[in-house]
Amino acid sequence: MKIRTSLTLWFAATVGLMSIISNLIVVFSIKEYLYNQKVEEAKDKANDVQQVIITLQKDHLEQEIPFEIQDPDLLSYTLSEQGTALYEGAYVQVTDLNSKVFSKSPNLKNKNLPILKPSTIGQLTLLLPVKNKVNNIRVLYYSSPLYINKEVIATVQVGLPLIKSERIFNQILLFELIKLFLSIVISLIIGRFLSTRALSPMVKIADEVHSMAGQNLLKLLDTSNLNKDEIGQLAGTFNELLSRISKVFDVQQRFISDASHELRSPLTSIRGHAQLLLKRGKDNPEMLKEGMEIIIRESERLERLVNDMLILARSGQRSAKNSDLDIIKSVKQLVSELQPLHDNLKFIDREEQKVILINGDQDSLRRVFINLIDNALRAVGNNGEVIVKYDIDEENIIFYIIDDGIGIKEEHLENVFERFYRVDSARDRDKGGTGLGLSIVKEIINSHKGQVSVTSTLGEGTTFMITLPFI
Ligand SMILES: Nc1ncnc2c1ncn2[C@@H]1O[C@H](COP(=O)(O)OP(=O)(O)OP(=O)(O)O)[C@@H](O)[C@H]1O
Ligand SMILES: [Mg+2]
Repeated sequence: MKIRTSLTLWFAATVGLMSIISNLIVVFSIKEYLYNQKVEEAKDKANDVQQVIITLQKDHLEQEIPFEIQDPDLLSYTLSEQGTALYEGAYVQVTDLNSKVFSKSPNLKNKNLPILKPSTIGQLTLLLPVKNKVNNIRVLYYSSPLYINKEVIATVQVGLPLIKSERIFNQILLFELIKLFLSIVISLIIGRFLSTRALSPMVKIADEVHSMAGQNLLKLLDTSNLNKDEIGQLAGTFNELLSRISKVFDVQQRFISDASHELRSPLTSIRGHAQLLLKRGKDNPEMLKEGMEIIIRESERLERLVNDMLILARSGQRSAKNSDLDIIKSVKQLVSELQPLHDNLKFIDREEQKVILINGDQDSLRRVFINLIDNALRAVGNNGEVIVKYDIDEENIIFYIIDDGIGIKEEHLENVFERFYRVDSARDRDKGGTGLGLSIVKEIINSHKGQVSVTSTLGEGTTFMITLPFI
């Protein structure tokens, strides 16, 4: 089911339920009210009849005429004398203590009210005359004992037809049902309107994303018309995601084009020399030797390039073979392995000998230091020196690879960690560099939760700083 439909239905169901509850309360309280009113009316009516009889008895007493309540003419006369006021809209009947009816209101004609015990209130369905017809009608019935001189001498029965109050009640019920129906219809309309309004930005976003398919990935969602609500936030987050994806996409794209460019030049050089040797190498041993050397050098470069690219490509997914590593010892050992070839490379140890263990991958970290020392040695050439030293703070060990070589211009400093970035492409390529060394260094150090940074002054030297957290 669509969100819009389910929201609308939930809204209508809630409004409907609330209406039903309020309708039930209204209907039941009206019913109760009408019933109580009728009961009061019946009691009043019985009281009135009693008063008439008591007055009649007093009259007889004053005139010293014997009072015979059972005398049918006496009471019937009095009842009709009192006129319609007494039995208008009501049936009245008086019975003796033996439950014999001896007087009743004329509107009962030849019918009798059923005889019930004194002090009974209830509802009955009776066959009674209404407007010249005899109909089955519902009647509220009240029977009350008649006291004269504190003695019960008869029973007064009053019946009130419920037709009018039932009609009023039915009308109110119908009105409440119509109200319920209307409130559900209106809540469906309002619910639909509100949910459509609330969801329209989502629909817009969905349309935009849909139309984006197959087009430019860089295109961001238009958030200018969106409020700063949840949907606006969602669109913003989505845009952030899109820009991150397109950045990754760009980096990937650049890497591919840089890589193919880098691969092309050694390949061109190898093919050029191979073709030349094929044509003229046979008669020219000097040229053959030189050509073969170039081909070997270029293919070595190619191999190194491919290896570096593989390292970088796998860097994200490398399952690090991490172990606890005595990092100072490892670096010291690496430097001493290189020293026989480079007498201008020095390691400065600290006086207090400490064992610093870090959790890391030995081969990868070795590659880091080889890369940095190799760069530094190339920068100093034959007339400078490279120093490796370290510092320890509370949480990290910090290595410095310091050289007093050619230095790096400030404008290049922030780019040296980028893939294939070389400060002076021609010169650095001639020296065999691929431009991938520092980006590999950065990848490895990041994966060890460390940091790498560089400071340099052109013509004075460069310092690379590596910070690694220890255990
Ligand atoms: N210590 C340094 N002094 C001066 N320039 C440096 C130093 N280290 C790096 N660079 C410059 O930064 C560039 C990038 O270094 P990086 O190690 O990434 O590539 P590379 O050394 O050219 O190639 P590779 O390391 O892949 O053989 C180098 O080409 C060089 O110009
Ligand atoms: Mg390098």
